[in-house]
Amino acid sequence: MKRVLFFSVLFILLAALCCKPETGNKNKKQFFPPVSFEKAAEWADSLLTLMTLEEKITFIGGDRIFFTQAIPRLNISSVMMADATQGVHLRDNWRDEIFYDEVLPRSTAFPCPILLASTWNKNLVEEYANAVGEECRAGGIAILLGPGMNIYRQSRCGRNFEYFGEDPYLAGQMIENYVVGLQSTGTIATLKHFVANNTDYFRRKSNSIVDERTLHEIYLPAFKSGVNAGAMAVMTSYNQLNGEWCGQSNYVIDTVLRRQLGFKWLVMTDWWSVYDGEKVIQSGMDLEMPFRLATENAGQLLEEGKVSEADINRMVRSILRTLYAMKAFSRVKEESYLNKFDEHEEIALQTAREGIILLRNENQILPIEDTTKTILITGEYAIKVAQGGGAATVEGYNHITLTEALAGIYGVNAGYIDAPTDEEISTADVVVLNIGTFDSEGRDRPFELPDTTENEILRIVDLNPNTVVVVNSGSGIRMSSWNQKVAAILYAWYPGQNGALAEAEIITGKVNPSGKLPVTIEKEFVNSPGYGYIPQGEALYEGWQGEEEKARAVYDIQYKEGILVGYRWYEYQRIPPLYPFGFGLSYTSFELSKITLSANKFRQGETLKITVSVKNTGERKGAETIQLYISDIECSVPRPVKELKGFEKIVLEPGELKKVTLFIESDDFSFWDTESKGWKAEPGEFELLLGTSSNQIVQRFIVVLL
Ligand code: BGC
Repeated sequence: MKRVLFFSVLFILLAALCCKPETGNKNKKQFFPPVSFEKAAEWADSLLTLMTLEEKITFIGGDRIFFTQAIPRLNISSVMMADATQGVHLRDNWRDEIFYDEVLPRSTAFPCPILLASTWNKNLVEEYANAVGEECRAGGIAILLGPGMNIYRQSRCGRNFEYFGEDPYLAGQMIENYVVGLQSTGTIATLKHFVANNTDYFRRKSNSIVDERTLHEIYLPAFKSGVNAGAMAVMTSYNQLNGEWCGQSNYVIDTVLRRQLGFKWLVMTDWWSVYDGEKVIQSGMDLEMPFRLATENAGQLLEEGKVSEADINRMVRSILRTLYAMKAFSRVKEESYLNKFDEHEEIALQTAREGIILLRNENQILPIEDTTKTILITGEYAIKVAQGGGAATVEGYNHITLTEALAGIYGVNAGYIDAPTDEEISTADVVVLNIGTFDSEGRDRPFELPDTTENEILRIVDLNPNTVVVVNSGSGIRMSSWNQKVAAILYAWYPGQNGALAEAEIITGKVNPSGKLPVTIEKEFVNSPGYGYIPQGEALYEGWQGEEEKARAVYDIQYKEGILVGYRWYEYQRIPPLYPFGFGLSYTSFELSKITLSANKFRQGETLKITVSVKNTGERKGAETIQLYISDIECSVPRPVKELKGFEKIVLEPGELKKVTLFIESDDFSFWDTESKGWKAEPGEFELLLGTSSNQIVQRFIVVLL
């Protein structure tokens, strides 16, 4: 009898344990500098007492475009910086002065960050950033001017390729891993561009009008993740936020970045982006780049009592503290890292393999395993390495084009023809058409391809339905006029110096595609939440247009869609996109089963655990990304239809089954409450949605926050 009672009690206890929500949190990664904040502060304070006022004033501006100022009298050396997120941009202006020799013999052109986000592979992001950091070490570069991380608000933004997509949670996860990967090599990560910098259309003249809730829910979370992960620097942006230039806004830097996000290290301006020295000095900014221009009058401002020496000391202290904490003053070129290029090339290639997205594959035209098939390769991008431009440019080495990569697999059966005739097109077994756009900082570009390109696609596909389109672009493009007609679409972004090899491996089946969209691709630009962002009657331009920009007045961009950015917008408005967020095909199939939830009631501070068994039901090895969204059933403020709050990518052999566990915290249910100026999760019912893309939800659970 006693024994029965014992087992009953044990059973009840175990059952209670199993059903009890867990405490603890999602495994967050964090970096700690080699010298602590306190120790570095002590050192900075003592150095400050030795500096003359003149030295201090000099120190708050940059030197030779990519350096901090040296103070030879105090043995403080100049610290070198380099762009940016997708590898080291080797600049000519480094070579003119003391670095007459090349900083680095070469640097790897990695796939662009939006492709990195498309991998949904957190560990790969860390490896990628680590490789970029190692190349910085090889060149003696102490500060990387990246990761870029502005949210993809609209598909025309010329810099979307430098960023991590439309979703704050996905971007935040990527950034956390990027920061840790990069900084673990001793290289400082610079989170940029702070904040609400979502167009490059006359970027020095735009004023982003964003409400507080939107700022916190959409445009700040990725920065917050970077700050929490331990990023050591932040760069402000060119634009104004609600009427003030970000680089001289006390609200942006002191209130939001320093107080609300808790950032305590180095803040620098974007290059030539501030105008009023007094405001800059009093905003919480530390370093004006590339030179002291707005703050040129710092001495005079001091004399007039408009700023104090304490203000200047604050700036100098912050620069010194950060650079000392990362041992940047003693940074030298470390030749041993030069042996790592092979490894880095492999990481670049692996990233491309995982980040290229198969959007369409009618009748399973792909993969083309039969190497005797004749493949006509055409399109301007098939004979070059597609890249974005501007500060993010990385030249790379050992380049390979799609034509070369396909020839390596199909031999003479695959050949490039610049302007194929009707007959050449119709007699080929398959046509691989490689199209693209050249996106760059300094301008936005149309969502639509030129008419000539669209017409050429239509001509080709009318002649040969077995057409595979490979897209190289930094953002979404208009595909709606030919999407239904082509057999397959590979969205390959800018895949880096050897990414064409990954494209070819996917075409031939050596690699099974596993990328998923980190953005929504709309049917027409008019569908986009950002539609109408440039002043009425104006048009996009090409090139830099610097002179015209100077003469222009500031123009406002109303972020009228508020928190409804990306899929949040398309779902709320019920506008079907061409391809939804989180979507991507594979050559195999997966089955999700045994989906369980640790509890259906939970309290603030507790964590829910969702487990799911994922099985590869096809014949090929492949990877699937399980995505977890939340939805607030009833709330005092409008909420999106769904919001991503968890994901995990797993690799499975044919027939293999793995259990995946995702965690959700009560914080994941919160919204930014403008009354309390904080995050708030309202008790009540929520829905958890588990699936493999934003539009492929396999299971829903109701949970109650008590
Ligand atoms: C860009 C920054 C870049 C800086 C230095 C600016 O034009 O906006 O992203 O880091 O130049 O090259």
